[in-house]
Amino acid sequence: MIDKTAPLLDKHLLQRLGEAQHVTVLSGAGMSAESGIPTFRDAQTGIWAKYRAEDLATPEAFAANPARVWRWYEERRNAVRSARPHAGHQALVMLESLVPALSLLTQNVDGLHQLAGSNQVIELHGNILRSKCHITGRLIGADWLTDSTQEPPPSPYVAGGYARPDVVWFGEVLPQEALERAMAAAIRCDFCISVGTTSLVQPAASLPLMALEHGAALVEINPMETPLSMHAEQCLRGPASQVLASVVQQLADWKRDPGQGPRL
Ligand code: OAD
Repeated sequence: MIDKTAPLLDKHLLQRLGEAQHVTVLSGAGMSAESGIPTFRDAQTGIWAKYRAEDLATPEAFAANPARVWRWYEERRNAVRSARPHAGHQALVMLESLVPALSLLTQNVDGLHQLAGSNQVIELHGNILRSKCHITGRLIGADWLTDSTQEPPPSPYVAGGYARPDVVWFGEVLPQEALERAMAAAIRCDFCISVGTTSLVQPAASLPLMALEHGAALVEINPMETPLSMHAEQCLRGPASQVLASVVQQLADWKRDPGQGPRL
């Protein structure tokens, strides 16, 4: 049953989604907000409203004070460890079974899509629960990191190296393979959904536009307007959990009976 209070996908877009061979979804921090993980740029509650990115999320900040950065990430890791996926994450798992191909591109570093059961997840900004050597970039196993809550443990690989979170910091490039796979998905897809992102941070913000330029239908899910809104064929204004659940239910109903309208 479709949630009567959720905004519905327009009929022609529902048909395009129903007929799509390859769907690409780009998610951002708003996707995790209802799991209790704060966004970055929302006024008052966003991480960058409380902290300065320059002090905590740059290679320079880590070089200047590794313990301060490590402790801040330890707080965020704890929040991620206790977070659980919501109905929107579950809806994307179901979407994977309803379309021939789904690429799920995420700017989120919390692993909630995978925890929900999504298989085709491309992490553009890394994963906060992984750590890597700050000099060599090689991943460091969790067993090496036990009880390191106050200071980063030394790297097992090189003298003078420390463990750091395997996330993309300001001034760093995205993991190349992830970005290439994401761009390929954007170019190839015929339906693109952008959910829970301000669409301000590049290169991720360009991916839905790339999809649009290559002929995909573009839908945005976000309670607020973003720079992407003017390009989207439809903006569904509401929280990710409710809107995604409703869109995927609409699609499931359409797949069962393409001639019918939504079951209210
Ligand atoms: P932002 O914090 O910039 O944007 C969050 C978006 O989610 C906003 O547009 C909100 O309106 C929207 N939002 C809030 N609650 C929502 C909900 N329940 N459902 C749907 N949308 C909701 O986060 P991102 O765009 O993901 O980078 O930020 C991009 C990157 O900037 C992040 O990955 C991070 C950050 O600096 C790195 O860490 C490299």
